[in-house]
Amino acid sequence: MPQSPTRRTARSPRSPAPPARAPRRTGSLLQRAQLPPVPSTLLIPLAARAHGGRYFPWLDCHDAVAQALLTQLGADVNSTLDDLPTVLHVLWRTRAIKEAGRAFFAEHPQALGVNLGCGLTHHFQWLDTGANQWLDADLPAVMALRKPLLPLPCPRVRHADLDLSQPGWWQRLGLPVQRNALPVLLVCEGVLMYLQPTQVHAVLAEFAQHAPPGSRMVLDVMTRQAVGCAARHASVGPTGAEFRWGVGRMAELAAVHPRLRLLREQSVAEGYGWAGIAMDMLWRPWLGAPLYGLATLGVRDGSP
Ligand SMILES: C[S@@+](CC[C@H](N)C(=O)[O-])C[C@H]1O[C@@H](n2cnc3c(N)ncnc32)[C@H](O)[C@@H]1O
Repeated sequence: MPQSPTRRTARSPRSPAPPARAPRRTGSLLQRAQLPPVPSTLLIPLAARAHGGRYFPWLDCHDAVAQALLTQLGADVNSTLDDLPTVLHVLWRTRAIKEAGRAFFAEHPQALGVNLGCGLTHHFQWLDTGANQWLDADLPAVMALRKPLLPLPCPRVRHADLDLSQPGWWQRLGLPVQRNALPVLLVCEGVLMYLQPTQVHAVLAEFAQHAPPGSRMVLDVMTRQAVGCAARHASVGPTGAEFRWGVGRMAELAAVHPRLRLLREQSVAEGYGWAGIAMDMLWRPWLGAPLYGLATLGVRDGSP
């Protein structure tokens, strides 16, 4: 995964090198954070949650913090908002995740929810039951940005550094391993397409191996046809990030581990109404999966 800074400042060959001295705290919070390409993509969904309701009021997620976060970051997201299909996709998935989360916590009001690769999301604003727990986790550079911007709202919420590309994350996050533990809800949106296929399979297998019965993992997927094509994506292209994983069939997800079950698949086509659903039906035999969609994975009963 390329990890060079997103925005480089070109210096003319004749400019003298800057004198060595302690760096001054200039520039916006975002510029100072110098996020590498993949972490910098967190601005895309943040912009959609902050302003997407202007364009798609029926999908407005009414995020209480996203606009203020953009202001504090000093982020200019105008070009991101020109990519309206992506704005719609983010709002559609936010609504679906909210619904999945509410259904899960209605059944398990004291359970734990975990946002893997959380970026600057704040799903707990919608999913707090008053008794459940929540964990937001992302790469250290993102968590360093997140912690001052989104301090923990209550003792039932915690933060953690996470690198999903490294096996053993379930235990490092302190997630439950006992057979009789409460189920866990994992959310992983806008993350796995940036990992290598073997890394994604390892993430799914780790969920399958450890998750207590009744646990759920909600993740977004894109078609395999999009792998390697991020440069042509209107808002991801400029970040320099690349799509590395996609699916040819939704059934591939559950095939990763015998304990996994594909409980639900959703296509973003439903966000476009009947025209979108018709296009999805036309493309599906060729693509084998939605252009972009969500999967809900569960685990079979029995010991993890
Ligand atoms: C498009 S952003 C999505 C952020 C957030 N999920 C959202 O929907 O707003 C991609 C996120 O994936 C995170 N990410 C990428 N690779 C990761 C890894 N190996 N481990 C953990 N997080 C990762 C990035 O740091 C970034 O926050």
